[in-house]
Amino acid sequence: MLAIEADALRRTYTSRTGWLKPRRTETEAVRGVTFEVAPGELFGLLGPNGAGKTTTIKMLNTLLLPTSGTARVFGHDVARDPVAVRRRIGYVFGGDRGLYDRLSALDNLRYFAELYGVEARDQKRRIAELLDLVGLVGREKESVEGYSRGMRQRLHIARGLLHRPDVLFLDEPSIGVDPVAARDLRRTVADLSAAGTTVLLTTHYMAEADELCGRIAVIAGGRICALGTPESLKSRVRGRDVLEIEAYGVDEERLDRVRRLPGVRGASVEDRGTLQVVTVQTGRSSAELHGPVLTALDGVRIGRVTSREPSLEDAYIAIVEEAAGGPDRSATPAEAEEPAV
Ligand SMILES: Nc1ncnc2c1ncn2[C@@H]1O[C@H](COP(=O)(O)OP(=O)(O)OP(=O)(O)O)[C@@H](O)[C@H]1O
Ligand SMILES: [Mg+2]
Repeated sequence: MLAIEADALRRTYTSRTGWLKPRRTETEAVRGVTFEVAPGELFGLLGPNGAGKTTTIKMLNTLLLPTSGTARVFGHDVARDPVAVRRRIGYVFGGDRGLYDRLSALDNLRYFAELYGVEARDQKRRIAELLDLVGLVGREKESVEGYSRGMRQRLHIARGLLHRPDVLFLDEPSIGVDPVAARDLRRTVADLSAAGTTVLLTTHYMAEADELCGRIAVIAGGRICALGTPESLKSRVRGRDVLEIEAYGVDEERLDRVRRLPGVRGASVEDRGTLQVVTVQTGRSSAELHGPVLTALDGVRIGRVTSREPSLEDAYIAIVEEAAGGPDRSATPAEAEEPAV
């Protein structure tokens, strides 16, 4: 049985705007999202601000009803059987809300354990296990007021896991968390996944997604526009190496010469102090273009030349720009009707 099945999920928000002449405005936040997550998978949902990630998660965790479409968690329909769904899921939203500041971490967990119906004889052991899992042993008696953001996030995760959910939704868990705490958090998430919990994660940190996720769906404008392993997403831009050339005195004429070279998809120049950096997007291996590009820049002083493989971030940007109708055009949703899976 699948852990998560989303089938043609849609959600439209209706809100009133204006004061003198109130008007109803409709936002189509999610426009037909379909995907499946197998038990134990660590699945990433990436996308720009306002893409519909949180809305999708809220439909899956029963906080919002879908406008149309269906979703199931371990076979339970989110709209028809929300109680059964809630029993199997936990969720953590990034940010500061949802904990009692005056209480200690321990008392917070005791309170939520009670709320989530964790059996009294089970509570003590479960809380100890979770404090250990999220690395808060020794600090559990301090009030949460004095907790750093990273510690709060870890406590949030412990809270989300109290009732041993089979599926955990993590919506931007590492937002505002420093790099060291974020690394600890990633380890916690990886451990959970290794122990069999299904995780659905959203993040704006591409390196985090690359490291953690087995599969990723890129969502833009309420639609999935790419879905696959991090490697398969990167392979979409493979062969499009990026060439970076430090230079002094590059003018438009020379840059145009570079742009006209066969195999070059784009070139731009950026001032960095006294130095310029020319970035050339290539449509093939950059080694072949190395010579021709330098010839086109003839007469300019050249510094370091480096080429790099496209990262998940490069792939993500290409996918999102493509979904919006290319880097120079505004979004034309009608053209992206069918998700390219
Ligand atoms: N309660 C609401 N009422 C009206 N519109 C909303 C509401 N919540 C979200 N929206 C709109 O729905 C769209 C999708 O929002 P959503 O929060 O799902 O995006 P997101 O992908 O989670 O973005 P972010 O990366 O910024 O968290 C946006 O246009 C947003 O403005
Ligand atoms: Mg969001």
